[in-house]
Amino acid sequence: MWKTIQPAPPDSILGLTEEFKKDQNPEKVNLGVGVYKDDAGNTPVLRCVKAAEKKLLETEKSKSYLPISGDPAYGAAVQRLILGTESEVISSGRAATVHAPGGTGALRVGADLIHKFNPKARVWVSSPTWANHNGIFGAAGFEIASYAYYNAASRGLDFDRMYSDLEKVPAGDIVVLHTCCHNPSGVDLSPDQWQQIVALAVKKGWIPFLDFAYQGFGDGVKEDRFAVEQFAGAGIDCYVASSFSKNFGLYNERAGAMTVIVPSEAEAGVAMSHLKTVVRTNYSNPPAHGGLVAAMILNTPDLHAMWLQELVDMRNRIVNMRKALVNGLAQQGVEGDFSYIERQRGMFSFSGWSEEVVNRLRANKGIYMVGGGRINLAGLTTSNIEYVCAAVAEAMKS
Ligand code: LMR
Repeated sequence: MWKTIQPAPPDSILGLTEEFKKDQNPEKVNLGVGVYKDDAGNTPVLRCVKAAEKKLLETEKSKSYLPISGDPAYGAAVQRLILGTESEVISSGRAATVHAPGGTGALRVGADLIHKFNPKARVWVSSPTWANHNGIFGAAGFEIASYAYYNAASRGLDFDRMYSDLEKVPAGDIVVLHTCCHNPSGVDLSPDQWQQIVALAVKKGWIPFLDFAYQGFGDGVKEDRFAVEQFAGAGIDCYVASSFSKNFGLYNERAGAMTVIVPSEAEAGVAMSHLKTVVRTNYSNPPAHGGLVAAMILNTPDLHAMWLQELVDMRNRIVNMRKALVNGLAQQGVEGDFSYIERQRGMFSFSGWSEEVVNRLRANKGIYMVGGGRINLAGLTTSNIEYVCAAVAEAMKS
């Protein structure tokens, strides 16, 4: 069969890492994949994770299968984190959560679940969006459309066009929204804008599907869940794909979750039964380790406090790198107003640099960024920032 089949193109994000590894340039810098790095350029295992793993090693008694939906303590911890401990959704039991393999797995579980009952729905993604949204929802069988989001001229949100596009989305269609730290732009909605979008969803009857992969990287764990709380409180169906990859640094443990929020406990029970069939027919039941670690940290006060501090440290380092990039570009005499980099949130900044500049940086300087010029600020360090800024100045001139 494979003799006549053309190879698939490399993944636009993870494929870059493969290229980066092969690059012989000793000064190379990976600003591609959304992975946190410390100032030494390493992706550390968080101290709270190491401590939890130690405890787990001592106490774990079995490697037998987890339930299809995952460890119940994990699902409960996820709900408390994404909704807040005091959430009415939790006390009413009107949410169903399954442990999915990472945020991607969660998106796919949610997509397969909806497709089972609503295959004709269209899925609306922001323009631009994380490239894999198209892949995941497309693979689940959905037709995909896009709504306005980023304004290239202002380097900010085009809220009026976003709102008017979402006003036209028919009832029953799915709208994928990045709850914080929009990927790739770093441009988020204000609380007031979120409230308007929630009211629109209620009025129009389209279904919010929230991608919540960066909780804690925007303004804080609590602040970043504002949109989730608003949608959850609106009394409509709502899907939340969350992940511990970034905020716990558990990238390769694939600890994510799909949470379905519905108006009643009875509906949550029905949703859970179907979530389980989706999981069972995809990967049977989730991998245990990452979920056990995350739940242990969230449920152990001293580890929880340690995690919150480590998260603050990661967030602050990225904010500092935003400042350093703006200053560095100015020092190198790069023309333009780069203040937008400091206004954006999360790991990314969308530079909007041309393919030519992006390719030049990669070919001549070993600086890798995603097409469209998405920069992972966490790839910048105090040691490589000058090199990167000088390279950008050169690439923009030639
Ligand atoms: C990214 O956007 O770089 C991350 O979410 C990693 C990925 O899987 O694409």
